[in-house]
Parts: sequence; structure tokens; C-alpha cells
Amino acid sequence: MLNVQIDATKLKIMETKLNCKFGNDGVFVEMALALNEYQEQLPSISGVSFCVYSGDLEKIRKLVEKVDSKWSKYFTENTTIFCAFINKEPVSFCIVTPTADSILADDKLRIGGVACVGTVPEYRKRGIGLKMVDMATMHLKSQGCDIAYIHYTHLEKWYKKLGYETIARFSII
Ligand SMILES: CC(C)(COP(=O)(O)OP(=O)(O)OC[C@H]1O[C@@H](n2cnc3c(N)ncnc32)[C@H](O)[C@@H]1OP(=O)(O)O)[C@@H](O)C(=O)NCCC(=O)NCCS
Repeated sequence: MLNVQIDATKLKIMETKLNCKFGNDGVFVEMALALNEYQEQLPSISGVSFCVYSGDLEKIRKLVEKVDSKWSKYFTENTTIFCAFINKEPVSFCIVTPTADSILADDKLRIGGVACVGTVPEYRKRGIGLKMVDMATMHLKSQGCDIAYIHYTHLEKWYKKLGYETIARFSII
């Protein structure tokens, strides 16, 4: 169970940066999950494997372009990219970071993030994306993170299936 405080200063900074307003009617959310007792939530999927991507960066950026052209700039040599693979080819991807920006008061906590989650259109609706987030969350735990954090999403119900909890809602102005 999550037991965390929100940092009012960080909230204000995020409002300014995104031009957003926190409030209960917001459709976007910030979500977090305590990792101390987290275990894989979903069964494996036949023919699909999951691990950190170590292949060609341009190749993965082309897949990212297919999903959201604004994201490819975040996929760099310095990013840890976690993927789902079918026949050794990436079909779903996300960025994992052991030091995520968040609105949590984090004096003593290690907060890891899962971001830019995407599945290429022809492989969607097979459970691959959510299983990848499950495995990416386990990866953050293995890196010593206390909390896994999801910033700026509209997929609240989807992430809740893994146990992520909504810590704040906001609207874009
Ligand atoms: C969001 C996204 C990553 C989901 O990827 P995905 O691989 O299709 O994810 P899943 O298959 O795990 O789940 C998608 C849906 O398919 C359903 N599903 C899962 N397995 C299924 C199966 N075997 N047969 C039919 N449907 C299935 C799930 O129930 C889920 O439905 P829900 O949205 O009502 O919960 C993908 O749609 C995407 O890339 N979207 C664009 C980028 C984006 O919005 N990213 C989120 C940023 S926070």
C-alpha cells in the first residue's frame, strides 16, 4: 500500500511547466506504486519476451515514431529502453529511469519511472503493453527503487490493473 506525501512546491512547478491545474475533475493523472511487495502480476505471454533494449537506437526510434512522433527525442543513448520482443523484434517499448521526476516528497525514497509506453499498432490488444509495464516495474524494483511512478497519463484504469494508484488529477489549461 502506498503511503506518500505530495510536495506542494513540486506540484506548483509541474502546473507551470505543463500549464495544467490540479483538481478532482482532471482527466489526466499521476500514479505511483510501492515496490517493496510487488511481484509479477500477469502471466507470461507465449512467444513474447521482455528485457532492456540493447539494439540499434534508430530502429527503435522508427517504432516510436509510429506510435507518437513527439516521443522519439526522449529515446537517446542515455535512456534505458525496456521492450517486449516477438522473434527478437521489439513490438512494445517504454523508458525506465531509476530517478524519475515526480510530485512526491521523496527525501528518503528512490522513485523510478516508466514513461513513453507504446505498442506498435499491429500488436495491440494482446496484453503485451500491460505485461511489459509489469516487467518494467519489476525491473525498477530490481534496480533498488522503492516506488514506481507514472507521470501524465490518461490510462488510469489500465495501470490500476497492476496496482498503480492515482496520487493526483489534473487538467491541461
Ligand atoms: C496504450 C498502449 C501502450 C496499450 O498497448 P497494448 O499492447 O494494446 O496493451 P494491452 O493489450 O495490454 O491492453 C490494451 C487493451 O487490450 C485489451 N486486451 C488485452 N489482451 C487482450 C487480448 N488477448 N484480446 C483482446 N483484448 C485484449 C486489454 O483489456 C486492454 O483493454 P483496456 O484498454 O480496456 O484495459 C497502446 O494502445 C499504445 O501504444 N497507445 C498509444 C500510446 C499511448 O497512449 N501510451 C500511453 C501513454 S501513458
